[in-house]
Amino acid sequence: MTAAIQRRLETPEPHNAEKTELHPELNRAHVRFIGLGKTYNGRQGPVAALQGIDLAIQRGEVFGIIGRSGAGKSSLIRTINRLEQPTSGRVLIDQVDIGEFDENRLVALRRRIGMIFQHFNLMSAKTVWQNVELPLKVAGVPKEQREKKVRELLELVGLQAKHKAYPAQLSGGQKQRVGIARALVHDPDILLCDEATSALDPETTQSILGLLREINQRLGLTIVLITHEMAVIRDICDRVVVLEHGHIVEQGPVWEVFGNPQHEVSKTLLAPLQHTLPQELQSRLQPQPPSPDAAVVLRLQFTGSATDEPDLAALFSALGGRVRLLQGGVERIQGHALGQLLLAVSGSSLGAQQLRQRAGQWAQQVEVLGYVV
Ligand SMILES: Nc1ncnc2c1ncn2[C@@H]1O[C@H](COP(=O)(O)OP(=O)(O)OP(=O)(O)O)[C@@H](O)[C@H]1O
Ligand SMILES: [Mg+2]
Repeated sequence: MTAAIQRRLETPEPHNAEKTELHPELNRAHVRFIGLGKTYNGRQGPVAALQGIDLAIQRGEVFGIIGRSGAGKSSLIRTINRLEQPTSGRVLIDQVDIGEFDENRLVALRRRIGMIFQHFNLMSAKTVWQNVELPLKVAGVPKEQREKKVRELLELVGLQAKHKAYPAQLSGGQKQRVGIARALVHDPDILLCDEATSALDPETTQSILGLLREINQRLGLTIVLITHEMAVIRDICDRVVVLEHGHIVEQGPVWEVFGNPQHEVSKTLLAPLQHTLPQELQSRLQPQPPSPDAAVVLRLQFTGSATDEPDLAALFSALGGRVRLLQGGVERIQGHALGQLLLAVSGSSLGAQQLRQRAGQWAQQVEVLGYVV
């Protein structure tokens, strides 16, 4: 990147007069979408892929985008580096509207934004070293600098020993490490990941996520990540947005959205992470007490809004009688305790609704699921 382009990129556009009036939080936003819309001209007429997207991504955060297939996730992420031209609205990067950029500024912009893909997009006839070096060559970076950079990056992604290998000789995880090294050659400050771990097995996914986290923390990169794997969002993202039919239906810190999803789509997407009722218990569950000594089945949900783990001794003694644990667990996301307990309470002097109220002192949501003998 030439010094001139660098300077131009750092100087806010004069026509961004609203900048000073923005809420401080938005003013600090690294990437901001304002009333963004994208309509494709499909074979059977126009396809509205994105509509009225207003969203701010903060510098240095790992931001997740989820939604069903076709929701508009890729379309949205690709407007950040202008691989996709919005039909309406604006995208601001560091408060600068990129919609006005000419070809030179777009080239400079794309160097500040690395991208990695599900299928790695490596050149099969080039070695690991050459794949990483290529964008530097294209940018006209002198040989010495190129070598220094490639060496540095291969070390960062742990592939020094493989620098002479061809993509076909690498595992999926190693290929994605090459993809990551290549995405970082121009010292970008944003990294876009579109399904970057979807082709990998769970163990390799964990190692790539570890690498992304390290890059986020060590280099201070803002990471925007699309995935169908909710566990990936849980493990690495700070905030998440849920898209459906091109609209934002929910957004917030991961612990909040995962702990207490509001929208139907979010609930459906997150269902695999929730504990469902065991089949055997489900079939025994009755809506009315079949006998006076039947146990009340309670579901306690911990949505993370209290930061302490539940005190079970206190909970059980408040319920009285015999409390059996049917199923449950608690995990921590961003320091918040999330999870659920399924309890069967028998022999308590309290009725079902009283039990529900009592349990409500420890859990954020309590339901009476029914009764079992
Ligand atoms: N080039 C295109 N021409 C026409 N329609 C398109 C084009 N690209 C995307 N679309 C449509 O826009 C909508 C959003 O597509 P997009 O690829 O952004 O979804 P996605 O959320 O990334 O889906 P997936 O999870 O399957 O990758 C879909 O209905 C899709 O068919
Ligand atoms: Mg997609």
